[in-house]
Amino acid sequence: MYIWRMLQDQITQYTEEINAFDTNNAAELEQFRIRFLGTKGIIKDIFDEFKAVSPEEKRTLGKVLNQFKQLAEAKYQTLNETIADAHGATEGSDLDLTLPGEGFEIGTRHPLAIVRREIIEIFNKLGFSVAEGPEIEDDWHNFSALNFPEEHPARDMQDTFFIKKGGEKGDVALRTHTSSVQVRMMEAGQPPFRALMPGRVYRNEAISARAHCFFHQVEGLYVDEKVSFADLKQTLFYFVQELYGEGTKVRFRPSYFPFTEPSAEMDISCSICKGAGCQMCKGSGWVEILGCGMVDPNVLENCGIDSKKYSGFAFGMGIERIANLKFEIKDLRLFSENDVRFLKQYQSATI
Ligand code: DAH
Repeated sequence: MYIWRMLQDQITQYTEEINAFDTNNAAELEQFRIRFLGTKGIIKDIFDEFKAVSPEEKRTLGKVLNQFKQLAEAKYQTLNETIADAHGATEGSDLDLTLPGEGFEIGTRHPLAIVRREIIEIFNKLGFSVAEGPEIEDDWHNFSALNFPEEHPARDMQDTFFIKKGGEKGDVALRTHTSSVQVRMMEAGQPPFRALMPGRVYRNEAISARAHCFFHQVEGLYVDEKVSFADLKQTLFYFVQELYGEGTKVRFRPSYFPFTEPSAEMDISCSICKGAGCQMCKGSGWVEILGCGMVDPNVLENCGIDSKKYSGFAFGMGIERIANLKFEIKDLRLFSENDVRFLKQYQSATI
């Protein structure tokens, strides 16, 4: 009876101690383990004394004793896990968290994406939105609606990749220019239209430093009442001042495109040598950057737009060409080879 009471008191006291115990220190926890759960610890002692308890008392006290032991073990286990988590899973492994980390590489924008974005931003300020169309086109959108008559030699201006349809050389092709998107846009609604249409285009050309079988263009279209050639000139003049800097000169040379009348090609004073003459401008001081003109009334009519009421201008430029003049990239093939040493050189001011 005496032992029973004594053990009962001890257990109550130790239970309080165990419940109150807390540490995040591994050495302190080890002290706890030795004190309660060690081979010469308190629990071992109590179990030894328990042997002297009378058999009737054993039944009730045994239960209490077991619960007490489980309490001490559970406490030890919980604290041990918390400490192990806090110290990382590094103890006992050869993982060294103090080693410097591996560099995290941040990608850069592709030079063509940088230039495309810059072009779009400039025209955004003039209220141009952005539109896109499919790369696989039919004859109507790529040629016929744009006033390229059937069998007309103008179609040979652009060497086309035809896609066979029904085993025949059919009327489906990879678009040769983004002008096809103009047609899609005008067919889908009524003026005013003020949009930029960037995209990839394809031509059947041998790949070299100066030509590739695919490249990128940005098309521009502005159709409304009373749009004039003066609007075209002023818009493009503003564009190049923004893109290449104040003081960039422009000149328009008469040209021919089936879908514009009159048509022109626009040159700018060479952005590399500032007009003094260099390799890029072949000594002339001028470089051509785009084709443009007033949308041919036939094209407006083909797209369901009243050419008596509306007029418009259009232009188209190659993004690679604009990028060349900005970054002096002499070999077109670099744009599509995905060599990170090349790509990493070009950083966008705006990410
Ligand atoms: N589509 C022409 C080309 O790929 C470029 C072009 C010229 C587009 C004049 C136009 C334009 O919108 O008015 O060569």
